[in-house]
Amino acid sequence: MSRHLVRGELLHFLSDPGAGASAAYEHHGDGALLLENGRILRCGPWAELRAAAPEAPCTDHSGCLILPGLIDCHIHYPQTDVIASPGHGLLDWLERYTFPAERRFADPAHAAQAAEFFCDELLRNGTTTALVFGSVHAESVDAFFGVARRRRLRMVAGKVLMDRNCPDYLQDTAQSAYDDSKRLLAAWQGVERLGYALTPRFAITSSEAQLEAVAALAREYPDVCVHSHLAENAAEVDWVRRLFPWSRSYLDVYEHYGLLRPRAVYAHCIHLDQTDRARMAASGAMAAFSPTSNLFLGSGLFDLGSALGAGMRVGIATDVGGGSSFSMLRTLAAAYAVAHLKGYVLSALRAFYLATLSGAMGLGLDHVIGNFLPGKEADFIVLDPAATPLLARRMASAASLEEKLFLWLTLGDDRAIRATYILGEAQWIRPS
Ligand code: GUN
Ligand code: ZN
Repeated sequence: MSRHLVRGELLHFLSDPGAGASAAYEHHGDGALLLENGRILRCGPWAELRAAAPEAPCTDHSGCLILPGLIDCHIHYPQTDVIASPGHGLLDWLERYTFPAERRFADPAHAAQAAEFFCDELLRNGTTTALVFGSVHAESVDAFFGVARRRRLRMVAGKVLMDRNCPDYLQDTAQSAYDDSKRLLAAWQGVERLGYALTPRFAITSSEAQLEAVAALAREYPDVCVHSHLAENAAEVDWVRRLFPWSRSYLDVYEHYGLLRPRAVYAHCIHLDQTDRARMAASGAMAAFSPTSNLFLGSGLFDLGSALGAGMRVGIATDVGGGSSFSMLRTLAAAYAVAHLKGYVLSALRAFYLATLSGAMGLGLDHVIGNFLPGKEADFIVLDPAATPLLARRMASAASLEEKLFLWLTLGDDRAIRATYILGEAQWIRPS
């Protein structure tokens, strides 16, 4: 594919802006991306890029904001069909809705159909990369990767490992967990834009023998992602204490099995102490902050200020189907509110940094996605300031970039995503 230009207001992050450090991001009121073969050649002011490529065709999104694609750091594709199912806390919700829904993913046709819908939903919400739970069935992961590959998406996923404390029909074993993970890793890790994640569901549903098997895989594959849940719910934390009486904390169980390391992603991380936070920060593991899920399931309030203060890496996650929206904008709004309740005011700039570059760094993918540096893959979104009458009216009085970002974050949803580009090509365009 030859060179082309995409014009519009443009923002991307180079590092954590904290409360607003301007060296941490690049912003061009009238900016452009120069693309070639699905990658970023240059990003800068429109006039400069037009002069550098006078012949290149241009897609004009003037009036809209171009941002790197959003990165959902924790989501379950088999739970698409149980989103918005009311329950009495995590463990009840798992038993009543989630496990029966996941059972259906033994059927590859069902899995493939669900994966198609799921990827459509990600794209219409501006999510271009996600870290994805499959079900316990290896077929569910083959189906998901097959769909993601055909659509040329950068996705990370894994087969769920669970051999106890769940229905018989969803149990694997320590040995099959090892064998299936290894087979899937060989088939998919590094194939085009796909990556594999070792995915023990959580400490409750893996025997010590199975965690040993995961530990062995983690040693054999030091560069792959690890993906699980951690310290989400008080009853869950109690149960883990009883199952692993030798452990200092819930986090300590994963650390004991060598699962605390760069590219390890733990959803929730609500009930941590300062030692846990320091251990996570030192390890390079990432917390996937899942505020709509935490509110919906009544799990608790993630302490974003303490996590960032301790130096932990944090990404943003919808956690569908515990989460109540596929929209990362809705999720950022909830993140802002939850952080506020815990005494921390999340700036809009930092919120979008967490939803883009920080997530890419936690997944070990910041060499290819997360911002618009030259050579990166051209996955980006176009935000519409007039997506709804209210947004349009309120935007008219927004003077600064930070103010506009805050309006998209607070009032936006899938309607604010004008377009989603994958490798430089529009894969979602909102019908006007
Ligand atoms: N803990 C273990 N499994 C799950 C799950 O499917 N969703 C959530 N939110 N927490 C979990
Ligand atoms: Zn989850």
